[in-house]
Amino acid sequence: MAHSCFAVLFALVAVRLVSGQNNSTYRDGATLVQPTYQPLTLGSVKPLGWFKDQLELEAAGLGGNMFDFYRFVHDSRWIGGSTEYSALDEASPYWFNGMVPLAFGLGDENIQSQVKYYLDYVLDHQQDDGWLGFETTEATRGLWARCLLLLGLIQYAEADPSQTERIVDAMHRYVVLAHSMLQNNYTGLIVHGNDTFDTAGFGVGRTHEMHIPLQWLYEKYPRNNSQIIWETMELMIDGGVSWGADWRTFWVEGVYPPVLYDTTPYDLSWVFIHGVNMAEGLRYPLSIYRMTSQEALREQTRTAVDLLAKYHRSLAGTIIADEYISDLNPSRGAELCIAAEVMFSSAYIYQYLGDNDIADWAEQTAFNALPVSVAADWWSHQYVQQENQPWSRNLSSTGFWSDVDSYANVFGLEPNYPCCTVNHPQGYPKFLANSFVSTGDGGLAHVFLIPATMTTTLDGENAVSVSADTNYPFSQTIKYNISATSPFDFYVRIPTWAGTNSTIRGNGNTTATTVSPSSQGLQKIEVPSGQATTFTLDLEASPRVVTRANNTAAIYYGSLLYALAIEYESSSRAPINYHTEDVLPANTTDSHTHDFSLTPTSPWNIAIDPTQIKVVRTNTTSSSSLPNPIWDLGAPPAELRVAAVEIDWPVAFDTAADPPANPAATGNPFSARFVPYASAKLHMAHLPVLQLSTVDL
Ligand SMILES: *[C@@H]1O[C@H](CO)[C@@H](O)[C@H](O)[C@H]1NC(C)=O
Ligand SMILES: *[C@@H]1O[C@H](CO)[C@@H](O)[C@H](O)[C@H]1NC(C)=O
Ligand SMILES: *[C@@H]1O[C@H](CO)[C@@H](O)[C@H](O)[C@H]1NC(C)=O
Ligand SMILES: *[C@@H]1O[C@H](CO)[C@@H](O)[C@H](O)[C@H]1NC(C)=O
Ligand SMILES: *[C@@H]1O[C@H](CO)[C@@H](O)[C@H](O)[C@H]1NC(C)=O
Ligand SMILES: *[C@@H]1O[C@H](CO)[C@@H](O)[C@H](O)[C@H]1NC(C)=O
Ligand SMILES: *[C@@H]1O[C@H](CO)[C@@H](O)[C@H](O)[C@H]1NC(C)=O
Ligand SMILES: *[C@@H]1O[C@H](CO)[C@@H](O)[C@H](O)[C@H]1NC(C)=O
Ligand SMILES: *[C@@H]1O[C@H](CO)[C@@H](O)[C@H](O)[C@H]1NC(C)=O
Ligand SMILES: *[C@@H]1O[C@H](CO)[C@@H](O)[C@H](O)[C@H]1NC(C)=O
Ligand SMILES: *[C@@H]1O[C@H](CO)[C@@H](O)[C@H](O)[C@H]1NC(C)=O
Ligand SMILES: *[C@@H]1O[C@H](CO)[C@@H](O)[C@H](O)[C@H]1NC(C)=O
Repeated sequence: MAHSCFAVLFALVAVRLVSGQNNSTYRDGATLVQPTYQPLTLGSVKPLGWFKDQLELEAAGLGGNMFDFYRFVHDSRWIGGSTEYSALDEASPYWFNGMVPLAFGLGDENIQSQVKYYLDYVLDHQQDDGWLGFETTEATRGLWARCLLLLGLIQYAEADPSQTERIVDAMHRYVVLAHSMLQNNYTGLIVHGNDTFDTAGFGVGRTHEMHIPLQWLYEKYPRNNSQIIWETMELMIDGGVSWGADWRTFWVEGVYPPVLYDTTPYDLSWVFIHGVNMAEGLRYPLSIYRMTSQEALREQTRTAVDLLAKYHRSLAGTIIADEYISDLNPSRGAELCIAAEVMFSSAYIYQYLGDNDIADWAEQTAFNALPVSVAADWWSHQYVQQENQPWSRNLSSTGFWSDVDSYANVFGLEPNYPCCTVNHPQGYPKFLANSFVSTGDGGLAHVFLIPATMTTTLDGENAVSVSADTNYPFSQTIKYNISATSPFDFYVRIPTWAGTNSTIRGNGNTTATTVSPSSQGLQKIEVPSGQATTFTLDLEASPRVVTRANNTAAIYYGSLLYALAIEYESSSRAPINYHTEDVLPANTTDSHTHDFSLTPTSPWNIAIDPTQIKVVRTNTTSSSSLPNPIWDLGAPPAELRVAAVEIDWPVAFDTAADPPANPAATGNPFSARFVPYASAKLHMAHLPVLQLSTVDL
């Protein structure tokens, strides 16, 4: 999310604006389009099992400790300190947006006290004119970071009703000010003259980020301010459009660039080809759709998902972009923030479109791309991950990377821009919050199949609680236990990869029935009133081989991507400043913060024969709990053995080159150990294919 002053790659589109124009479409009583599935109030879903372990690690790791030491949070200007990494002033709002759902999803009192301190400080220091934040001049007052703050605030207001009134008060005061700023030639959104708040165009490229909070306010607590709220959203979009950042012009087959090299003609704004922006910009059409009901915008969302899937989505579920898209070369890598934003966007889009593969995408990112870049103990992270990553260290070259430093694939505190340090923690807590949804017919659905409990009241009177006891995605069995005061329909999402022999057995039935999901992948279970309706879902999974260009392949098993496990030695040093490379002073580090380089001690240069795969279980799973931490080499219980052979695989720019097109074997075939991608911090996932003689796996 480049906050450096790197030159804007593509010419800014000239601003065309006639001041004072009123294009408001507000009409009294205007309503918003409703999602197909509604998320539940934050705090309704609580984690169990391995997912609870992960959130506890996050709370005990960087996420939950930054408030106490990390200069961009602890010493943020938002709470009276003096340190921001850029004029966007976004660091602590990012942190807040992730810590609020962690605090209330996990029920962690320490983190609740952190976010309460921040909430109190920010609301108590709201300025007389309604501005939220510390900036006092027009040149420094950008709206962008407020979008993140507001996202955190609405989650807070949902989770803790004792704070709702004052949060809503503050939002109303702020929105009146934002509206008047935007009416005045998009002040705070578009940089004029000597304004410093957003010289690159991050905020103006993400104008729809104000919509989720303002649409929440508009629906739940409009007071007598509906028109102002509505117009503020329209002004945001209009301002972005006039600047050249209308995502409706980009998510179009024929316009969207399938590959993008220095030589590829491209004349739209740079904002569209930036991976984090793209992960966020996926939601742009739906944000407007909610207000206009234009079916074309809903359809365009599907197009956007499909374009990304076809041209730039990684095997692990993120967007290959370093920080800009180019092609599907697995060495290029993807910034960690992209995975966090993809998880949020795919969960949101799923709630509107209901397409089963979009929920699969959210899981794919959550179980692969996000955790692979975070150390098992949640104390360090990479800025850039590669699907073929034979080592993790300061590279001697930045080669093919367009705006990433050579240090970016070190696991550290701030191995590159600090945005990922403060933004990655939102991934898992929001995934938890979106794992159950209510359905239009008064029912409930478990859509991201992680272990959790859920308690809610349906239709204001049916008190329902559900527990889903599972090691999913490390096993394919989920045991449900449901109680309800009245009968209701419960749904379980059956992933698209699940075999037709997936079964469900319940309520004392001795035999299992095969599942019969709807066209959207939901399996319905009619739950009677009473305690302890129990049933067990067994998903049928088998290894799946996905082929890619140039005779390459990758292997999945269930929702997990599998990769060659590379053994490694780890060495650590004191964390360095991402910008100066000086060792960070002790007052902005913690005794747990280190920068790690991982050096391989086993071969990485292989081709595989994916017709020879065997599933092996290293740790029996029955109903036993999983190792903690789970995203560590050897911890996940199911591994694969795959026929493989070492090949000549060149190194380019100090990392693995593209998969060789005509691989030459350099040894005898052997049985290679494949493990869940995210548990192998060094890994090779996108591999050349060779036909090999039969190997004893
Ligand atoms: C825009 O026009 C509408 C309809 O004429 C009017 O109700 C509204 O107050 C105007 N809004 C602004 C911001 O001038
Ligand atoms: C850390 O210490 C330095 C002086 O050594 C001081 O300038 C800086 O403000 C301190 N930072 C924080 C976050 O306390
Ligand atoms: C609005 O802002 C643009 C871009 O800075 C500028 O070119 C234009 O003159 C401004 N219009 C008015 C009426 O101030
Ligand atoms: C911008 O800054 C320059 C130099 O400080 C100053 O001369 C100029 O008046 C400023 N322009 C505006 C629009 O504030
Ligand atoms: C709403 O109406 C009340 C009473 O007329 C007024 O005091 C208040 O300022 C209004 N609020 C907004 C946000 O316009
Ligand atoms: C307002 O609408 C007019 C006429 O449709 C259009 O030319 C203009 O670009 C719009 N202005 C903005 C700021 O969207
Ligand atoms: C990392 O390597 C680059 C050369 O690619 C070098 O310029 C830089 O100083 C190194 N950084 C550290 C922290 O070793
Ligand atoms: C489903 O299970 C039955 C009985 O175990 C087996 O005969 C059949 O081949 C399976 N079908 C598939 C598609 O795996
Ligand atoms: C129990 O078995 C019956 C008969 O096969 C079937 O209709 C019912 O849906 C099953 N219930 C559950 C919860 O599996
Ligand atoms: C289901 O939950 C109830 C409490 O809500 C508990 O008494 C019962 O033992 C549970 N049943 C199973 C099979 O876990
Ligand atoms: C396939 O190989 C060709 C030739 O080496 C290369 O130009 C192209 O980028 C490769 N395609 C992919 C998707 O890696
Ligand atoms: C199984 O899990 C335990 C932790 O519960 C771990 O120590 C052990 O290494 C695992 N066994 C294998 C073979 O991976």
